[in-house]
Amino acid sequence: PKTEFVADLMAKMTLDEKIGQLNLPTSGDITTGAGNSSNVAKNIEEGKVGGLFNIKSAEKIREVQKIAVEKSRLKIPLLFGMDVIHGYETTFPIPLGLSCTWDMKLIERSAQIAAQEASADGINWTFSPMVDISRDPRWGRVSEGSGEDAYLGSQIAKAMVNGYQQDDLSKNNSILSCVKHFALYGASEAGRDYNTVDMSRIKMYNDYFPPYKAAVDAGAGSVMASFNEVDGIPATGNKWLMTEVLRNQWGFKGFVVTDYTGIPEMIAHGMGDLQAVSALALNAGIEMDMVGEGYLTTLKKSLEENKVSMTQIDNAVKLILNAKYDLGLFQDPYKYCDVKRAKNEVFTTSNRLEAREIASQSLVLLKNEKQLLPLKKSGTIAVIGPLADAKENMAGTWSVATNMDKSISLIAGIKEVAATANVLYAKGSNLDYDAAFEEKATMFGKTLHRDARTSADLLAEALKIANQSDVIVAALGESAEMSGESSSRTNLEIPQAQKDLLQALLKTGKPVVLVLFTGRPLVLVQENETVPAILNTWFAGSEAGSAIADVLFGIENPSGKLTTTFPRSVGQVPIYYSHKNTGRPLGNKEGNFEKFKSNYIDERNEPLYPFGFGLSYTTFEYSNLKTSSEKMNSNEKINVSVDITNTGNFDGKEVVQLYLRDVVGSITRPLKELKGFQKIALKKGEKKTVTFEISIEELKFYNSDLEFVAEDGQFEVYIGGSSNTDNKVGFELNK
Ligand code: IFM
Repeated sequence: PKTEFVADLMAKMTLDEKIGQLNLPTSGDITTGAGNSSNVAKNIEEGKVGGLFNIKSAEKIREVQKIAVEKSRLKIPLLFGMDVIHGYETTFPIPLGLSCTWDMKLIERSAQIAAQEASADGINWTFSPMVDISRDPRWGRVSEGSGEDAYLGSQIAKAMVNGYQQDDLSKNNSILSCVKHFALYGASEAGRDYNTVDMSRIKMYNDYFPPYKAAVDAGAGSVMASFNEVDGIPATGNKWLMTEVLRNQWGFKGFVVTDYTGIPEMIAHGMGDLQAVSALALNAGIEMDMVGEGYLTTLKKSLEENKVSMTQIDNAVKLILNAKYDLGLFQDPYKYCDVKRAKNEVFTTSNRLEAREIASQSLVLLKNEKQLLPLKKSGTIAVIGPLADAKENMAGTWSVATNMDKSISLIAGIKEVAATANVLYAKGSNLDYDAAFEEKATMFGKTLHRDARTSADLLAEALKIANQSDVIVAALGESAEMSGESSSRTNLEIPQAQKDLLQALLKTGKPVVLVLFTGRPLVLVQENETVPAILNTWFAGSEAGSAIADVLFGIENPSGKLTTTFPRSVGQVPIYYSHKNTGRPLGNKEGNFEKFKSNYIDERNEPLYPFGFGLSYTTFEYSNLKTSSEKMNSNEKINVSVDITNTGNFDGKEVVQLYLRDVVGSITRPLKELKGFQKIALKKGEKKTVTFEISIEELKFYNSDLEFVAEDGQFEVYIGGSSNTDNKVGFELNK
């Protein structure tokens, strides 16, 4: 029926109406969602719009949908998109934080709740998941992805797509997902946003493509093209990428949308005028033009001049109508516009409770000297820092639908959870990144406004309460807008005024817990040397303050593990655990300098905190690592097992990580690659055996002919609680 329905409809469409379906304007105002601004409304009526994005509320969306289905000639309903990136009004941790849970069920659940709320409020399409691998924390958009690893990134991509689409797009609480940004956007040179990417195909296929492919395999209904170039051609006009890889090799059946003005931006890339770049995009395999209006204004002419074909236009229209059909919009264009649902299903108590639980799992304990944490709910606690009372910053970047007023700040969370303690607060310093940045570089009003008081006054007030306290909680780091789109940094330190504040607080001699807010790995060498306890909280969402307090006071035991390496210095970037050995590896484990070896004269090679690292209030011991066999062939699988014992004083959760090394290959292979993980719960004193099954699939990689193969020879298997584990056994593959 879908094929016939769409074919029948297309038979009635004029060329202009067809081109109209390929056009995706924005609603106008991203926050107020002023949906029916006259131009957009007129275009919808004339059949020149296929979808609209960033209008918020079931009522407003209903009004706009009404124009399409009552006033346009063919009554074709619109898609309504939004950047529902990490939750809707109930907001979850930024994706980088979410990935640190290593819990696929929770991640899928977060996407499902996001879909439930967004669909109740009129949205049927989200521009998520963002699955760009990035190994460069200078790039502000590391906050929006799942870190540096292809294997973990692929599992998360799948969980997110399943959460949004739930295997059935026709349900009224599932929405179309859009995997982005295809492709390689996270590898922009020097970490500068929108910058050039240049990468070997071996690296693309082995390290950067897998999460996009995993999302496509999971059935993602749409894909967004990235802003960067791939092999010298912008992704938006890259036929090899969009047709050969995405459609021919991976079998993608949905539609591809550009990023915001991706088509006209190809003019600046140097690919021609608007007509030329629009034809380039269509010929490459891009169906929908976001905001650029290149298709709307030039495709007809290009068709007359034989620069594009009718078959291509028809094919693009068909894929967009297919998506509308799959969503059930032709049956009921208002199915997502039920105002009652919006009232009952958005920002509910139970969704917020789940968000709090998920947020607590995303926090990563980086240091805890002499078990300073968890804190007691008694005595006097001084909560100090520009991020302590900053509810508008808790949700982090890309939280378009978040109701900032209702987010829980750290101070509110601490007061709720430790109601029996005497909790004092002082701001202590300004955020102090850069005054100009603080005032203007905001997309969603999350700027931390500068305090008019002098820094001496702010400090004096903070020291006064610090000196009265038993313990200091210092809430420092980046503001929400310092990461995300267009927020690249060259300096990865906590802003200087806050570093100074921290050192002044340490001088009081009181125990200090650093509660860190950040959208990227920061350089924390000084903090690691001087502060006894560091809890990295990312931006944990609308329930951040409560979730952080749950962890600070031991209601939850931290179990998050880093999914991205924290460097010791910006000069080490790009830095990631799955690096190659080189021909001149360093010969000492301590990282001491060796002449004519691959290292630095002024810094060690190791990061400050490696991928997979994260502490708990308890301790885990690994023992008895073994394989079921020392040999394996193509049909056999081997089991690798390890015993894990909770040797500390708290019940806790551990992310057990399995890494493989292919010792000799036809191309050079990484020293370690994550190929499995299990998150387990262990009671105090409890011991469990964890078993992983390894099949030939886990041993495969793309060789220099880009064939996906496993090669005979020796493999090493490492299992531990972090990527720097030395705990290993070996086996041999003999196909
Ligand atoms: O989805 C986003 C994308 O990630 C960056 N540019 C704008 C798009 C739509 O808001």
